[in-house]
Amino acid sequence: MSDPIHVAVILGSTREGRLCDTLAAWVAGELDKRHDLTFSLIDPASLDLPGCHENQANEGIRRLRDQLDRADAFVVLTPEYNHSFPAALKFLIDSSYAEWQTKPVGFVSYGGISGGLRAVEQLRQVFAELHAVTVRDSVSFINVWEQFADDGSLIGPDRAVAALQRMVSQLHWWATATRAARKTAPYREVA
Ligand SMILES: Cc1cc2nc3c(=O)[nH]c(=O)nc-3n(C[C@H](O)[C@H](O)[C@H](O)COP(=O)(O)O)c2cc1C
Repeated sequence: MSDPIHVAVILGSTREGRLCDTLAAWVAGELDKRHDLTFSLIDPASLDLPGCHENQANEGIRRLRDQLDRADAFVVLTPEYNHSFPAALKFLIDSSYAEWQTKPVGFVSYGGISGGLRAVEQLRQVFAELHAVTVRDSVSFINVWEQFADDGSLIGPDRAVAALQRMVSQLHWWATATRAARKTAPYREVA
C-alpha cells in the first residue's frame, strides 16, 4: 500500500452554537477507522483571517497556508446559508491559492430541505477556479438538527457512513494519483 494520505477536514461554520462541531466529530470518528490516511482539523474560528488575500502578512493566514500545504486532500464541511455556503468559508478558501492546486476535495453538507447541496454546487465552481478536483460523491444531511442525538451520535448512521466511506475512497484515489504526479511534473508549469 502507498503512504497514507493526509486529509485536512475544514469546518465551514464559525457561528456560535454551530452544529459544525458535531459534524466534525462524526467525520473525525469515521476517518479514525481508516488505516490509509491521517487527518487534522482546520477551524476558521480559531484562525485570525482578516480578509481574503493570500499575500496579507498575517499569522492566521500563514498558519492556514501551512496546514493546507501539508494536506494531500480536503474534506469540506459546509452548512447552507441562504442557498449558498458561509462567508467564513469563502474567506478561508480565498486566503490561499497554490496550496489547493491539483488536490481533491470532498464535501459533507448539511442544512434544511436541501441538505446543503446548493452550497456544494457553488463550492464546486469555486474549487475549479483553484485547480482543485472535487470528487463526485458527497455526504448530505437533510434537516440536520434531526439527525444527531444529544450525545453527538448519528441516528440511523448506515447510509451516511457508507456515503462518507465511498467519498473518502474517491478522495484517496485522487490524492494518491495527484501526489505522485506533482512529484514528477510541477503543476505550476501548466497552471
Ligand atoms: C444565516 C443562515 C441562513 C440559512 N439558510 C439556509 C438555507 O438557505 N437553506 C437551508 O436548507 N438551511 C439554511 N439554514 C439552516 C442551516 O443550514 C442550519 O441551521 C445549519 O445547522 C447551520 O450550520 P451551523 O450550525 O454549523 O452554523 C440557514 C442558517 C443560517 C444561520
